[in-house]
Amino acid sequence: MKIKITTKPRSTFKVRFIPEDQATGLPDFTGAVDQMSTRYENSDGILYCGIGPAGSCTPAVIRTTAAKAVQTVQKLKRTDAAFIPAEISGNTVVLETALIEGILLGAYRYTAYKTEKPVDITTVEIVGGQLRSPELKRLHYIADSVNYARDLVNDNASVITPAYLAKEAKKLGTSGKCTVTVLDMKELQRQKCNLITAVGGGSATPPVLILIEYRGASRSTPVTALVGKGVTFDSGGQNLKPTGSIESMRDDMAGAAAVMAVLGAAKRLNSQINLVGVIPAVHNAIGSRAFFPGDVYTSHAGKTVEIWSTDAEGRLILADAISYCRKVFRPDRIIDLATLTGGIITALGEQIAGLFSNNDELATALFNAGEKCRERLWRLPLYREYHDSLKGDRADLRNISKFKKGCASSITGAAFIQEFAGDTPWAHLDIAGTAYNDGSANGEIPQFGTGFGVRLLSEFLGV
Ligand code: BES
Ligand code: MG
Ligand code: ZN
Repeated sequence: MKIKITTKPRSTFKVRFIPEDQATGLPDFTGAVDQMSTRYENSDGILYCGIGPAGSCTPAVIRTTAAKAVQTVQKLKRTDAAFIPAEISGNTVVLETALIEGILLGAYRYTAYKTEKPVDITTVEIVGGQLRSPELKRLHYIADSVNYARDLVNDNASVITPAYLAKEAKKLGTSGKCTVTVLDMKELQRQKCNLITAVGGGSATPPVLILIEYRGASRSTPVTALVGKGVTFDSGGQNLKPTGSIESMRDDMAGAAAVMAVLGAAKRLNSQINLVGVIPAVHNAIGSRAFFPGDVYTSHAGKTVEIWSTDAEGRLILADAISYCRKVFRPDRIIDLATLTGGIITALGEQIAGLFSNNDELATALFNAGEKCRERLWRLPLYREYHDSLKGDRADLRNISKFKKGCASSITGAAFIQEFAGDTPWAHLDIAGTAYNDGSANGEIPQFGTGFGVRLLSEFLGV
């Protein structure tokens, strides 16, 4: 999609943002948030979009309204529109940024398997906009990255295999600043990543550990490791998921998708930061080679783990990935993203992700980035009692807690991962609720894969 900043729009379809106090002379239109009304004068169309009281209009309202407006334009099969922002006080750059984000993110639909493709909007004019090409370029690249992460989640699990993710990652590794390494099954065995090989070993598509290094800043600049859960399909393994819980499990690589997308954005934007992306990619299969509940495995870190559920597989692969990453890259901080637990949906719903950390400064910075870009987080505790619940009888640790079924499952999952972070500042984002939208599109949040985490990390890291 082309975004043009202009004072003289050419499109015959206008989208006008109207605050409540300026909605005079428009019959049946009050300017309330979410109110939209299409009117025609000859062949010219105009879509009025309410944004509520001018004094309380936020970037979030503008972003969501813009997304809904672009969806309306597409439903009308128009291929272009001119957006006329509201005249309200506030930071105009921030509001215009939110407007353009809403347009770029809201226009996304997953149509790869539709035989009849819907009409896409190709040109949007922003009337009286101020943003210049570097800012517009950044918005385009970040939105492209969000949409890339969405595409990876939305395609079939039979297509998006561990090998496929490795191939995608390798596309990033062609420049001097970026290198990609893929550890295959044999190398993972040699490196004693026994938890990754246990979880991934039951599948016809073997596990891989993908390592993407991006050095955009000097050696002395801190290195952030982004670790993404890459379960390309989570059947639950021998602890098979029931009907009703299994259908969307191709989304269990949403953390990996977000990490690949952020590294891609950093590379395209030539960001002056140092990153390593670490993606343990596995298919948690049920079959004759699948790992067994009750078995004990020695992790890469050396700690032994009793398998109490093969469906608590994300923490297992993350444990080895984090341990390997610490040993090889010695990062200054680690952030993992994972569709880790259904419990986080119970706790926080589908719009807020869980935040867990061993470092208050890192947690606060991530929280603030989330508030700013509206991919919001809420922190949960990691008290000793949660760690105590993970003590094993036959081994050091058990992979699910001794608590009653379902009790504090998101926290104990996070506590398990923390056991492998050591003294490295670490944060874990449980995106099981936010990464996938079972319902219909809600403004900039589309149906299916949402791309959650890409904008958050881009904001946090300064991509
Ligand atoms: N991939 C799931 C978590 C999940 C649930 C993601 C719903 C997206 C939507 C994860 O591997 C899992 O199965 N978690 C279990 C953990 C339990 C066995 C301790 C869960 O949440 O039920
Ligand atoms: Mg599982
Ligand atoms: Zn899973």
